[in-house]
Amino acid sequence: MTRLYESRKRILVTGGAGFLGSHLTDRLLTEGHEIVCVDNLFTGTKRNIEHLRNHQRFEFLRHDVTFPLFVEVDEIYNLACPASPIHYQHDPVQTTKTSVHGAINMLGLAKRLRCKILQASTSEVYGDPEVHPQREDYWGRVNPIGIRSCYDEGKRCAETLFFDYHRQHGLKIKVARIFNTYGPRMHPADGRVVSNFIVQALKGDSITVYGDGSQTRSFCYVDDLVDGVVRLMDSPDDVTGPVNLGNPVEFTIADLANKIAKLTGSAAALRSMPLPIDDPKQRRPDIGLAQKMLGWQPKTMLDDGLLPTIKYFRDVIRG
Ligand SMILES: NC(=O)c1ccc[n+]([C@@H]2O[C@H](COP(=O)([O-])OP(=O)(O)OC[C@H]3O[C@@H](n4cnc5c(N)ncnc54)[C@H](O)[C@@H]3O)[C@@H](O)[C@H]2O)c1
Repeated sequence: MTRLYESRKRILVTGGAGFLGSHLTDRLLTEGHEIVCVDNLFTGTKRNIEHLRNHQRFEFLRHDVTFPLFVEVDEIYNLACPASPIHYQHDPVQTTKTSVHGAINMLGLAKRLRCKILQASTSEVYGDPEVHPQREDYWGRVNPIGIRSCYDEGKRCAETLFFDYHRQHGLKIKVARIFNTYGPRMHPADGRVVSNFIVQALKGDSITVYGDGSQTRSFCYVDDLVDGVVRLMDSPDDVTGPVNLGNPVEFTIADLANKIAKLTGSAAALRSMPLPIDDPKQRRPDIGLAQKMLGWQPKTMLDDGLLPTIKYFRDVIRG
Protein backbone atom coordinates (compact mmCIF):
# COMPACT_ATOMS: atom_id res chain seq x y z
CA MET A 1 0.00 0.00 0.00
CA THR A 2 1.31 3.47 -0.80
CA ARG A 3 0.61 5.97 1.92
CA LEU A 4 1.01 9.74 2.09
CA TYR A 5 4.13 10.66 4.03
CA GLU A 6 2.04 12.53 6.66
CA SER A 7 -0.05 9.45 7.48
CA ARG A 8 2.95 7.11 7.56
CA LYS A 9 3.94 6.09 11.08
CA ARG A 10 7.38 5.06 12.26
CA ILE A 11 6.67 2.03 14.43
CA LEU A 12 8.91 0.17 16.87
CA VAL A 13 8.32 -3.58 17.10
CA THR A 14 10.35 -5.22 19.87
CA GLY A 15 10.76 -8.96 19.34
CA GLY A 16 10.30 -8.18 15.65
CA ALA A 17 12.48 -11.07 14.45
CA GLY A 18 10.35 -13.59 16.33
CA PHE A 19 7.34 -15.57 15.18
CA LEU A 20 4.57 -13.04 15.89
CA GLY A 21 6.79 -9.97 15.59
CA SER A 22 7.89 -10.79 12.05
CA HIS A 23 4.30 -11.32 10.87
CA LEU A 24 3.24 -8.09 12.58
CA THR A 25 6.12 -6.31 10.83
CA ASP A 26 5.01 -7.68 7.44
CA ARG A 27 1.46 -6.48 8.08
CA LEU A 28 2.52 -2.97 9.15
CA LEU A 29 4.86 -2.64 6.18
CA THR A 30 2.01 -3.71 3.88
CA GLU A 31 -0.02 -0.87 5.39
CA GLY A 32 2.70 1.54 4.31
CA HIS A 33 4.37 2.24 7.66
CA GLU A 34 8.05 2.37 8.56
CA ILE A 35 9.34 -0.29 10.97
CA VAL A 36 12.17 -0.28 13.47
CA CYS A 37 12.58 -3.92 14.44
CA VAL A 38 14.44 -4.47 17.72
CA ASP A 39 15.50 -7.95 18.76
CA ASN A 40 18.40 -9.64 20.56
CA LEU A 41 17.87 -12.79 18.44
CA PHE A 42 17.53 -15.04 21.49
CA THR A 43 14.63 -17.01 20.00
CA GLY A 44 14.06 -14.90 16.92
CA THR A 45 16.12 -15.31 13.80
CA LYS A 46 17.32 -13.17 10.91
CA ARG A 47 15.71 -15.76 8.62
CA ASN A 48 12.28 -14.47 9.71
CA ILE A 49 13.13 -10.99 8.43
CA GLU A 50 15.53 -11.96 5.63
CA HIS A 51 12.94 -11.01 2.99
CA LEU A 52 12.92 -7.44 4.38
CA ARG A 53 16.69 -6.87 4.25
CA ASN A 54 16.50 -4.40 1.38
CA HIS A 55 13.09 -2.96 2.21
CA GLN A 56 13.32 0.82 2.27
CA ARG A 57 10.95 1.22 5.21
CA PHE A 58 12.52 -1.51 7.38
CA GLU A 59 15.38 -1.17 9.86
CA PHE A 60 16.81 -3.87 12.14
CA LEU A 61 18.51 -3.07 15.44
CA ARG A 62 20.12 -5.83 17.48
CA HIS A 63 19.40 -4.80 21.05
CA ASP A 64 18.36 -6.33 24.38
CA VAL A 65 15.28 -4.56 25.77
CA THR A 66 16.50 -5.00 29.33
CA PHE A 67 18.76 -2.04 28.48
CA PRO A 68 17.41 1.44 27.70
CA LEU A 69 16.75 2.30 24.07
CA PHE A 70 16.56 5.72 22.47
CA VAL A 71 14.83 5.87 19.10
CA GLU A 72 12.28 8.25 17.63
CA VAL A 73 9.00 6.50 16.82
CA ASP A 74 5.24 7.17 16.76
CA GLU A 75 4.05 3.84 18.20
CA ILE A 76 5.51 0.88 20.08
CA TYR A 77 4.49 -2.78 19.96
CA ASN A 78 6.30 -4.54 22.82
CA LEU A 79 6.61 -8.22 21.92
CA ALA A 80 10.14 -9.02 23.07
CA CYS A 81 10.09 -12.08 25.34
CA PRO A 82 10.68 -15.77 24.75
CA ALA A 83 7.25 -17.40 24.61
CA SER A 84 7.80 -21.14 24.85
CA PRO A 85 8.54 -22.92 28.15
CA ILE A 86 11.77 -24.50 26.82
CA HIS A 87 13.14 -21.07 25.97
CA TYR A 88 11.80 -19.01 28.87
CA GLN A 89 12.94 -21.62 31.41
CA HIS A 90 16.44 -21.71 29.90
CA ASP A 91 17.40 -18.49 31.74
CA PRO A 92 14.46 -17.67 34.03
CA VAL A 93 16.09 -14.59 35.56
CA GLN A 94 16.64 -13.09 32.11
CA THR A 95 13.00 -13.95 31.25
CA THR A 96 11.66 -11.95 34.19
CA LYS A 97 14.10 -9.13 33.39
CA THR A 98 12.93 -9.10 29.77
CA SER A 99 9.30 -8.73 30.82
CA VAL A 100 9.83 -6.32 33.71
CA HIS A 101 12.92 -4.26 32.78
CA GLY A 102 11.85 -4.49 29.13
CA ALA A 103 8.43 -3.03 30.01
CA ILE A 104 10.02 -0.28 32.15
CA ASN A 105 12.40 0.67 29.34
CA MET A 106 9.72 0.67 26.64
CA LEU A 107 7.21 2.52 28.83
CA GLY A 108 9.90 5.08 29.66
CA LEU A 109 10.52 5.53 25.94
CA ALA A 110 6.77 5.88 25.25
CA LYS A 111 6.49 8.44 28.06
CA ARG A 112 9.35 10.50 26.63
CA LEU A 113 7.87 10.35 23.11
CA ARG A 114 4.23 10.66 24.31
CA CYS A 115 3.36 7.76 22.02
CA LYS A 116 0.98 4.81 22.21
CA ILE A 117 2.37 1.51 23.41
CA LEU A 118 0.95 -2.01 23.16
CA GLN A 119 2.00 -4.90 25.35
CA ALA A 120 1.92 -8.51 24.13
CA SER A 121 0.65 -10.12 27.30
CA THR A 122 -0.52 -13.68 27.55
CA SER A 123 -3.25 -16.07 28.62
CA GLU A 124 -0.64 -17.39 31.08
CA VAL A 125 -1.62 -14.50 33.37
CA TYR A 126 -4.68 -16.67 34.14
CA GLY A 127 -2.42 -19.54 35.29
CA ASP A 128 -4.31 -22.81 35.84
CA PRO A 129 -7.77 -21.22 35.81
CA GLU A 130 -10.82 -22.27 37.85
CA VAL A 131 -13.22 -20.56 35.40
CA HIS A 132 -13.87 -21.40 31.75
CA PRO A 133 -13.73 -19.71 29.39
CA GLN A 134 -11.45 -17.00 30.82
CA ARG A 135 -12.74 -13.44 30.75
CA GLU A 136 -10.55 -10.39 31.23
CA ASP A 137 -12.03 -9.68 34.68
CA TYR A 138 -10.81 -13.06 36.01
CA TRP A 139 -7.66 -12.45 38.11
CA GLY A 140 -6.12 -15.85 37.52
CA ARG A 141 -4.55 -18.63 39.56
CA VAL A 142 -0.80 -18.44 39.16
CA ASN A 143 1.91 -20.22 41.12
CA PRO A 144 4.35 -17.44 42.08
CA ILE A 145 7.33 -19.74 42.77
CA GLY A 146 7.10 -22.48 40.12
CA ILE A 147 9.18 -23.06 37.03
CA ARG A 148 6.68 -21.20 34.82
CA SER A 149 6.51 -18.22 37.18
CA CYS A 150 9.36 -16.29 35.52
CA TYR A 151 7.12 -15.97 32.47
CA ASP A 152 3.66 -15.78 34.07
CA GLU A 153 4.58 -13.38 36.89
CA GLY A 154 6.90 -11.38 34.62
CA LYS A 155 3.98 -10.79 32.24
CA ARG A 156 1.62 -9.99 35.14
CA CYS A 157 4.09 -7.43 36.49
CA ALA A 158 4.43 -5.93 33.00
CA GLU A 159 0.64 -5.48 32.90
CA THR A 160 0.81 -3.77 36.31
CA LEU A 161 3.48 -1.41 35.00
CA PHE A 162 1.44 -0.59 31.91
CA PHE A 163 -1.61 0.33 33.99
CA ASP A 164 0.46 2.34 36.50
CA TYR A 165 2.08 4.34 33.69
CA HIS A 166 -1.41 4.91 32.32
CA ARG A 167 -2.85 6.09 35.67
CA GLN A 168 0.23 7.95 36.88
CA HIS A 169 1.52 9.48 33.64
CA GLY A 170 -1.55 9.43 31.38
CA LEU A 171 0.23 7.15 28.90
CA LYS A 172 -1.86 5.69 26.06
CA ILE A 173 -1.64 1.94 26.61
CA LYS A 174 -3.04 -1.21 25.03
CA VAL A 175 -2.73 -4.65 26.61
CA ALA A 176 -3.46 -7.75 24.51
CA ARG A 177 -3.74 -11.10 26.30
CA ILE A 178 -2.68 -13.48 23.57
CA PHE A 179 -3.75 -17.12 23.61
CA ASN A 180 -1.99 -20.02 21.85
CA THR A 181 -1.11 -18.88 18.34
CA TYR A 182 0.48 -20.94 15.58
CA GLY A 183 1.65 -20.54 12.01
CA PRO A 184 4.71 -20.39 9.74
CA ARG A 185 7.96 -19.10 11.38
CA MET A 186 7.30 -20.75 14.73
CA HIS A 187 10.59 -22.00 16.14
CA PRO A 188 10.87 -25.70 15.16
CA ALA A 189 12.46 -26.62 18.51
CA ASP A 190 10.33 -24.54 20.84
CA GLY A 191 8.54 -27.57 22.28
CA ARG A 192 5.10 -26.00 21.76
CA VAL A 193 2.38 -28.42 20.94
CA VAL A 194 1.65 -27.46 17.32
CA SER A 195 5.30 -27.25 16.22
CA ASN A 196 6.21 -30.37 18.22
CA PHE A 197 3.49 -32.49 16.68
CA ILE A 198 4.14 -31.28 13.13
CA VAL A 199 7.91 -31.80 13.32
CA GLN A 200 7.49 -35.25 14.88
CA ALA A 201 4.91 -36.25 12.26
CA LEU A 202 7.03 -34.99 9.35
CA LYS A 203 10.09 -36.84 10.64
CA GLY A 204 8.03 -40.01 11.07
CA ASP A 205 8.69 -40.03 14.83
CA SER A 206 5.93 -40.94 17.24
CA ILE A 207 3.81 -37.98 18.34
CA THR A 208 4.35 -37.18 22.02
CA VAL A 209 1.11 -36.49 23.88
CA TYR A 210 1.50 -35.35 27.49
CA GLY A 211 -0.96 -36.92 29.92
CA ASP A 212 -3.94 -38.73 28.41
CA GLY A 213 -4.44 -36.04 25.74
CA SER A 214 -7.81 -34.96 27.15
CA GLN A 215 -6.52 -31.50 28.19
CA THR A 216 -7.86 -28.85 25.84
CA ARG A 217 -6.33 -25.88 24.05
CA SER A 218 -7.55 -23.36 21.52
CA PHE A 219 -5.36 -22.42 18.56
CA CYS A 220 -5.39 -19.08 16.76
CA TYR A 221 -3.83 -18.69 13.32
CA VAL A 222 -1.14 -16.01 13.20
CA ASP A 223 -2.83 -13.79 10.56
CA ASP A 224 -5.97 -13.57 12.69
CA LEU A 225 -3.96 -12.75 15.78
CA VAL A 226 -1.96 -10.02 14.05
CA ASP A 227 -5.20 -8.50 12.78
CA GLY A 228 -6.53 -8.38 16.36
CA VAL A 229 -3.33 -6.79 17.68
CA VAL A 230 -3.38 -4.07 14.97
CA ARG A 231 -7.07 -3.38 15.58
CA LEU A 232 -6.36 -2.98 19.29
CA MET A 233 -3.53 -0.52 18.63
CA ASP A 234 -5.81 1.46 16.28
CA SER A 235 -8.77 1.49 18.70
CA PRO A 236 -9.86 4.68 20.52
CA ASP A 237 -7.65 5.83 23.41
CA ASP A 238 -10.12 4.74 26.10
CA VAL A 239 -9.77 1.10 24.96
CA THR A 240 -6.79 0.06 27.05
CA GLY A 241 -7.54 -3.63 27.46
CA PRO A 242 -6.63 -6.05 28.73
CA VAL A 243 -8.33 -7.71 25.78
CA ASN A 244 -8.24 -11.45 25.12
CA LEU A 245 -7.12 -12.36 21.59
CA GLY A 246 -7.35 -15.99 20.65
CA ASN A 247 -9.53 -18.59 19.04
CA PRO A 248 -12.35 -19.78 21.30
CA VAL A 249 -12.81 -23.11 19.50
CA GLU A 250 -11.45 -25.81 21.80
CA PHE A 251 -9.71 -29.03 20.78
CA THR A 252 -8.28 -31.78 22.92
CA ILE A 253 -4.58 -32.38 22.49
CA ALA A 254 -5.41 -35.88 21.23
CA ASP A 255 -7.70 -34.33 18.54
CA LEU A 256 -4.88 -32.06 17.44
CA ALA A 257 -2.39 -34.93 17.26
CA ASN A 258 -4.76 -37.00 15.10
CA LYS A 259 -5.51 -34.03 12.82
CA ILE A 260 -1.80 -33.35 12.27
CA ALA A 261 -1.07 -37.02 11.64
CA LYS A 262 -3.80 -37.01 8.98
CA LEU A 263 -2.78 -33.73 7.29
CA THR A 264 0.89 -34.68 7.13
CA GLY A 265 0.02 -38.15 5.87
CA SER A 266 2.05 -39.58 8.75
CA ALA A 267 1.53 -43.07 10.07
CA ALA A 268 3.27 -42.09 13.34
CA ALA A 269 1.78 -43.52 16.52
CA LEU A 270 0.83 -41.38 19.54
CA ARG A 271 3.12 -41.82 22.56
CA SER A 272 2.00 -40.82 26.05
CA MET A 273 4.35 -38.91 28.44
CA PRO A 274 3.79 -37.53 31.97
CA LEU A 275 2.19 -34.06 32.19
CA PRO A 276 4.71 -31.22 32.82
CA ILE A 277 4.50 -29.35 36.16
CA ASP A 278 1.82 -26.60 36.35
CA ASP A 279 0.51 -27.48 32.88
CA PRO A 280 -3.01 -25.99 32.64
CA LYS A 281 -5.76 -28.55 31.96
CA GLN A 282 -7.97 -26.25 29.98
CA ARG A 283 -7.51 -22.90 28.29
CA ARG A 284 -10.06 -21.05 26.21
CA PRO A 285 -10.55 -17.32 25.70
CA ASP A 286 -13.81 -15.49 26.07
CA ILE A 287 -13.43 -13.05 23.17
CA GLY A 288 -16.67 -11.13 23.80
CA LEU A 289 -14.74 -7.96 24.60
CA ALA A 290 -12.61 -8.13 21.43
CA GLN A 291 -15.75 -8.75 19.36
CA LYS A 292 -17.51 -5.76 20.93
CA MET A 293 -14.64 -3.25 21.16
CA LEU A 294 -12.59 -4.21 18.09
CA GLY A 295 -15.14 -5.95 15.85
CA TRP A 296 -12.64 -8.82 15.79
CA GLN A 297 -12.88 -12.54 15.73
CA PRO A 298 -10.68 -15.24 14.21
CA LYS A 299 -11.63 -16.39 10.72
CA THR A 300 -9.20 -19.22 10.02
CA MET A 301 -10.33 -22.80 10.64
CA LEU A 302 -7.74 -25.07 12.25
CA ASP A 303 -7.23 -27.24 9.13
CA ASP A 304 -6.79 -24.12 6.95
CA GLY A 305 -4.12 -22.75 9.28
CA LEU A 306 -2.36 -26.07 9.75
CA LEU A 307 -1.75 -26.56 6.02
CA PRO A 308 0.58 -23.53 5.49
CA THR A 309 2.19 -24.27 8.86
CA ILE A 310 2.95 -27.85 7.82
CA LYS A 311 4.31 -26.57 4.50
CA TYR A 312 6.61 -24.17 6.38
CA PHE A 313 7.97 -26.91 8.64
CA ARG A 314 8.41 -29.25 5.68
CA ASP A 315 10.64 -26.60 4.03
CA VAL A 316 12.56 -26.04 7.28
CA ILE A 317 13.22 -29.75 7.71
CA ARG A 318 14.36 -30.06 4.08
CA GLY A 319 16.78 -27.20 4.85
N1 LIG B 1 2.93 -17.29 20.22
C1 LIG B 1 2.02 -17.37 21.16
O1 LIG B 1 1.20 -18.30 21.16
C2 LIG B 1 1.96 -16.34 22.26
C3 LIG B 1 0.96 -16.47 23.24
C4 LIG B 1 0.90 -15.53 24.24
C5 LIG B 1 1.76 -14.46 24.27
N2 LIG B 1 2.71 -14.35 23.33
C6 LIG B 1 3.64 -13.22 23.43
O2 LIG B 1 3.89 -12.65 22.17
C7 LIG B 1 5.24 -12.21 22.07
C8 LIG B 1 5.90 -12.85 20.86
O3 LIG B 1 5.86 -14.26 21.00
P1 LIG B 1 6.37 -15.25 19.86
O4 LIG B 1 5.53 -16.44 19.88
O5 LIG B 1 6.56 -14.49 18.61
O6 LIG B 1 7.76 -15.69 20.48
P2 LIG B 1 9.21 -15.64 19.84
O7 LIG B 1 10.13 -16.28 20.84
O8 LIG B 1 9.21 -16.17 18.46
O9 LIG B 1 9.48 -14.08 19.77
C9 LIG B 1 9.99 -13.33 20.82
C10 LIG B 1 11.09 -12.44 20.26
O10 LIG B 1 11.62 -11.64 21.32
C11 LIG B 1 13.04 -11.64 21.22
N3 LIG B 1 13.60 -11.38 22.56
C12 LIG B 1 13.56 -12.17 23.63
N4 LIG B 1 14.16 -11.57 24.67
C13 LIG B 1 14.57 -10.35 24.22
C14 LIG B 1 15.26 -9.27 24.81
N5 LIG B 1 15.65 -9.30 26.09
N6 LIG B 1 15.52 -8.18 24.05
C15 LIG B 1 15.15 -8.13 22.75
N7 LIG B 1 14.49 -9.13 22.13
C16 LIG B 1 14.20 -10.22 22.87
C17 LIG B 1 13.39 -13.02 20.68
O11 LIG B 1 14.67 -13.11 20.11
C18 LIG B 1 12.25 -13.24 19.69
O12 LIG B 1 12.58 -12.74 18.42
C19 LIG B 1 5.92 -12.60 23.40
O13 LIG B 1 5.93 -11.47 24.23
C20 LIG B 1 4.99 -13.65 23.96
O14 LIG B 1 5.03 -13.68 25.36
C21 LIG B 1 2.85 -15.27 22.32
